[in-house]
Amino acid sequence: TGKVALDPGFVNTASCSSAITYIDGDAGILRYRGYPIQELATGSSFIEVCHLLIYGELPGPGELKELADKLRQNAGIPDEMRTMLDALPREGHPMTLLGSAVNLLAAYYPDSVDLSDPDQVELATIRLLAKLPTIAAHIYRNSIGEQPVDPDPSLGYVENFLHMTFGKEKGEGELGSLFVKAMDLLLILHADHEQNCSTATVRVVGSSEADIYGSVSGGIHALFGPLHGGANQAVLEMLEEIRSSGTDLDTFLERVKARETRLMGFGHRVYKNFDPRSKEIKGLASQILDNQERPDELFELALQLEAKALADPYFTERKLYPNVDFYTGVIYRAMGFPTTMFTVLFAIGRLPGWIAHWREQAADQTSRIARPRQLYTGPGQRSYPGRA
Ligand code: CMC
Repeated sequence: TGKVALDPGFVNTASCSSAITYIDGDAGILRYRGYPIQELATGSSFIEVCHLLIYGELPGPGELKELADKLRQNAGIPDEMRTMLDALPREGHPMTLLGSAVNLLAAYYPDSVDLSDPDQVELATIRLLAKLPTIAAHIYRNSIGEQPVDPDPSLGYVENFLHMTFGKEKGEGELGSLFVKAMDLLLILHADHEQNCSTATVRVVGSSEADIYGSVSGGIHALFGPLHGGANQAVLEMLEEIRSSGTDLDTFLERVKARETRLMGFGHRVYKNFDPRSKEIKGLASQILDNQERPDELFELALQLEAKALADPYFTERKLYPNVDFYTGVIYRAMGFPTTMFTVLFAIGRLPGWIAHWREQAADQTSRIARPRQLYTGPGQRSYPGRA
């Protein structure tokens, strides 16, 4: 069997070749299909980025309209699924409910689970992209005891999601269009990040030729963890805790350095200088929060915490910088989302990346079932008592 190398957390192991996303962690470079994230952030829309990631190229005007139309037409969910969502525990974490619901799409749509049929894969792609925001908004409305809002086919993807989540008010007026723009940008910034934990999970599940819904469901549950996408919720809870307990920031950072807690929203496996997404998001946070009547206390706190951490050798020596999750929470909060929905927003953003990787792997003739090895550390052979 040859020599097996131990690599916990896959720090040095490439599990696949991929043509989707390029990252240079030292230089802080992130590109989707060759396009720098900064250019996509300023120039494109989330739907264009979905097309780019999944089909490999930016859409022409006809293709963009075609994709947007398909997403509008497929945004509804069957009544049986609505009944099922209504029966789930209202106090369950939205990520738990979302991952379960996405898995069940395979049962509601058995005509799109055959991975040897490209038409079925395409149908599943559209259904996932179209229905995830609807399912997410339905779960949110249930969690606050409000009637779910049906998708409105006259609205764009992001507007429709805000409409289904908040009803009319959030997608309209000047503030509404700022929120739509901000949400679109945040989804773009989250859309792919090569072999992160959730995408690697989608690939591992998919490598056994499991259907795309189940694979994405696995990705959603991987994203839920606080070391991954769950960090956006954890950052806000950390800031709220610092504020409500009155702990001063130096004392809090001493606790981090003593390893009693982590500075959530800091550090990254790949970025060792800065996370290009966090720069964009910090800019967006100022733009959104400057529009508020009163300064946002948690944003101010986050700015101070970042400055203090970056002045402290503990963080700089370990190359710990703010990551994508550090400022997203304050933006989502300003938009009116409860903390438990933050990671759901990340999932909606990451979906095209998961789909693109699942499809790339399914089309890759050299792909094999993911089956890591291990180094066994248990007892040697011993006899069952009484049988020696
Ligand atoms: N606060 C305090 N110390 C930290 C932190 C942190 N946030 N992150 C890493 N360290 C320390 C860690 O204790 C270790 O120190 P030492 O070498 O003295 O033992 C060193 O830095 C290296 O850390 P690591 O845990 O080996 O690094 P990793 O690459 O395995 O983990 C990480 C990366 C992102 C999980 C980690 O930095 C972390 O837990 N950050 C906080 C959670 C977070 O913000 N996650 C979001 C990640 S970005 C987007 C996403 O995936 O959703």
